Amino acid sequence: MSLEPRPGILDIKPYKPGAADAPGITDPVKLSSNENPMGCSPLARKAFEAASKNLNLYPDGGASRLRAAIGEVYGLDPARIVCGTGSDELLQLLGRAYLSPGDKVVQSRYGFLVYRLVAMQSGARLISADETDYTASVDAILKAAGDDARIVFLANPNNPTGTYIPYTEVRRLREGLPENTMLVVDEAYAEYVDEPDYDTAFGLANEYSNVVVTRTFSKIHGLAALRLGWAYADDSVIDVLNRVRGPFNVNLPAIEAGIAAVRDTGFQQRSAEHNRQGLAFMRQQLGGMGLEVTRSAGNFLLVHFPETKGKTASEADAFLTARGLIVRPVAAYGLPGALRITIGRDDDNRKVAGALAEFMAA
Ligand SMILES: Cc1ncc(COP(=O)(O)O)c(C=O)c1O
Repeated sequence: MSLEPRPGILDIKPYKPGAADAPGITDPVKLSSNENPMGCSPLARKAFEAASKNLNLYPDGGASRLRAAIGEVYGLDPARIVCGTGSDELLQLLGRAYLSPGDKVVQSRYGFLVYRLVAMQSGARLISADETDYTASVDAILKAAGDDARIVFLANPNNPTGTYIPYTEVRRLREGLPENTMLVVDEAYAEYVDEPDYDTAFGLANEYSNVVVTRTFSKIHGLAALRLGWAYADDSVIDVLNRVRGPFNVNLPAIEAGIAAVRDTGFQQRSAEHNRQGLAFMRQQLGGMGLEVTRSAGNFLLVHFPETKGKTASEADAFLTARGLIVRPVAAYGLPGALRITIGRDDDNRKVAGALAEFMAA
């Protein structure tokens, strides 16, 4: 007889990361996980290498120097920051600390898949609020949340759609939610956004004790392998997260590389600029082929394919994979007609655009 986990755990479908292999191809182009095509800051790599001399030592459990560096760069109080093994861990910890079986959790329809996992792990109910043009709708979220949602998750910009809502809308969302509802604003792609009406929710987290903002080192900082993220919130929430996290949840090389990365604003700017150009190029190319491309503020594009046989998203995916170009099918998000394509290096973007032109013309 096998031991039974808590009710609901076996209903969870394990998260499926973006594919990394294309059968029969030795050096495929991986555009399936929204990684930074420019690598990471050379200073971060140097710090990582130097840290390899100290692998026998436990890291600083409070990641104090990393929090101080983040605080310095973003103008935030380090005491209101907690670091995690990717922002993913922080989302999980919020669920662990704040959700009980039966609690209501709200996201927007195509919200990041981890929110579903977080809710299910705690036996909470996930409600997905309708979106408008693949964009979160504050009115729909407020309606779904009512007066008893425990957590509302908003990725801004969102993955896999790439869409964002303006700061005034995030504020309207917070103002419309009751005090007993926590608003988690996941800003994994914030550093890429180049829109005048966009702003981080750090200010809201200063004003409201029930706002949590999460950030990651996996995207613009190019440190996905090291698993590093952080959350900014009221002291009371930070205190809770510090109680439920592992005592040494962030490893020593990640701390050292993270300190160098967050300070290397030049690398961040170069990454953002490369992305801006790549996004514009890919939008123009794919749009020119008659494909519908959702306007993205992140480092990837959601591309919609026709339902016509021979031109579908899954056929396009197979066509690209056969040429060593790995993108992300998003059927698990309820988007079987679309593919998510990360902005890559210029030559890789050209390869994807070229292959899709061939696919669409065939
Ligand atoms: C919206 C969003 N949030 C959070 C994450 C998790 O990032 P990490 O755990 O690598 O920090 C991702 C990663 O793809 C994401 O797309």
